Amino acid sequence: MIETLLRNNEEWAASKIAEDSDFFSRIAGQQSPEYLWIGCSDSRVPANEVLGLKPGDLFVHLNVANIACPSDTNFLAVLQYAVETLKVRHIIVCGHYGCGGVAAAVDDCRHGLVDHWLQPVRDAADEFADHLLRIRDEDRRLDALCEANVASQVCSVACNPIVQDAWRRHQSLTVHGWIYSLEDGLLHDLDCSISSFTGLSSAFPAKLSGQIGAPMKARNGGVRGTWP
Ligand code: CO
Repeated sequence: MIETLLRNNEEWAASKIAEDSDFFSRIAGQQSPEYLWIGCSDSRVPANEVLGLKPGDLFVHLNVANIACPSDTNFLAVLQYAVETLKVRHIIVCGHYGCGGVAAAVDDCRHGLVDHWLQPVRDAADEFADHLLRIRDEDRRLDALCEANVASQVCSVACNPIVQDAWRRHQSLTVHGWIYSLEDGLLHDLDCSISSFTGLSSAFPAKLSGQIGAPMKARNGGVRGTWP
């Protein structure tokens, strides 16, 4: 029932005020989050909740398959505001295993408009094809593509002129690539963070191709780890 949502909201607001009477008046004035989250629209990955962050702590951009598309004006507006006005110190690109968007990008079926949107995922599949094609199990290969897509979007964010201009101004800004497991609620760092031009030139793509797959191996004790 839709009315339940409004009742839930009243209870939530009352509980916040009970914990901290100034909570809303304090954050209504301004926001100063340190983090920009670029994640998937999937309802099972609630960004603030999985990070344990409160309202005001996280600037959020969501889309299907967590893509940092350099021609998406919505994304660019969010990125520019986050970097230049809010001056966030960290940008977290976060994918998730079992991503339907990533699966749809490579399933050879027609889905409509989203097929156009998902082209960057197919680009990531091409970029990491040597590794992906060595994984015979289809579910594992899709999970690896979820990781590869994150790495590719980290590269896209780091190559974006908005981010590069921030580095040119010596603004502290790091781009991170993480992935979330729906099965256990845990985030994994894909170890492809980049915080400078130097990192960009030395980290991509060689470092990424070595790192992708590592969290999956760790999670499964190496049993599932057929990644080379
Ligand atoms: Co998804």
